[in-house]
Amino acid sequence: MTQTAPSPDQVVAQRYRDPAPATPAEWNPVLQVLHEHRSVRRYLPEPLPEGVLELLISAAQSAPTSSNLQVWSVVAVRDPQRRARLAALAGDQEQIRQAPLLLVWTADLARLRGLAAARGVPLDGADYLESSYVAFLDAALAAQNALVAAESLGLGTVYIGAIRNNPEQVAAELELPSGVFAVVGLVVGRPDPAEDARVKPRLPQAAVLHEETYTPARLADIDDYEQRIAQFYAEQDLAHSWIDRVLARLGSAKALKGRDRLRESLAARGFPLY
Ligand SMILES: Cc1cc2nc3c(=O)[nH]c(=O)nc-3n(C[C@H](O)[C@H](O)[C@H](O)COP(=O)(O)O)c2cc1C
Repeated sequence: MTQTAPSPDQVVAQRYRDPAPATPAEWNPVLQVLHEHRSVRRYLPEPLPEGVLELLISAAQSAPTSSNLQVWSVVAVRDPQRRARLAALAGDQEQIRQAPLLLVWTADLARLRGLAAARGVPLDGADYLESSYVAFLDAALAAQNALVAAESLGLGTVYIGAIRNNPEQVAAELELPSGVFAVVGLVVGRPDPAEDARVKPRLPQAAVLHEETYTPARLADIDDYEQRIAQFYAEQDLAHSWIDRVLARLGSAKALKGRDRLRESLAARGFPLY
């Protein structure tokens, strides 16, 4: 049986679980891919087709980059044993073992430091928080472009923030030099259809969009969302409250699962953050 593609109204409705969405003013295949994003956590083991990695990277390099500094790099990990070791360091997440590719996006100040050293000129600005911030932002923008490219090809993805749980061991595993820090992982592979990953609803636009000036969140908007996402969680057999989840996620330093040490790890890895 062939499935008919959902209409733009249905796609936007699905993003908010809104039974009465506004009809989108415009539509195209890019908007379709963006709105249909969902994280995939079960994968088939098959390798990616030839040339896909290179396409993901050229999409990533097409992202804007602050002052064209291009202060990021990515490590493509295909070796199953290395992926298994990284999974153990990143919250033991099975999807890292299952999928054929893990992309580790890094903030990379080492390349420019090397250029400065070769010329014998200072690069003091690289030691400031601003430059680390730029590198993290550049890496994230590149990663997100690769994610959208992968999803446009029908592949599944999931970010791995847990790659920052044990930064020193991850750096050793990937042989990262000082000045290169793993920002986030991205698992890429063919989704296992048995998972039935669904689009996770987002907060209503009224909660995130402020016209001209900022207005504090209205509890009614959050309550409304709490009910819509409860439906999604119930379908996935998960605990039902978004509010409980987000408050627990940031409730204590321990809940950060090692990432409460990030400042210290960054300093040790050549990111002094002045
Ligand atoms: C920076 C970042 C780090 C993430 N880290 C993880 C992770 O370690 N494991 C995981 O299963 N999902 C991870 N995710 C996926 C989020 O949980 C997911 O995007 C969020 O719940 C929204 O669901 P959706 O992507 O299906 O819309 C991460 C997402 C981002 C943006």
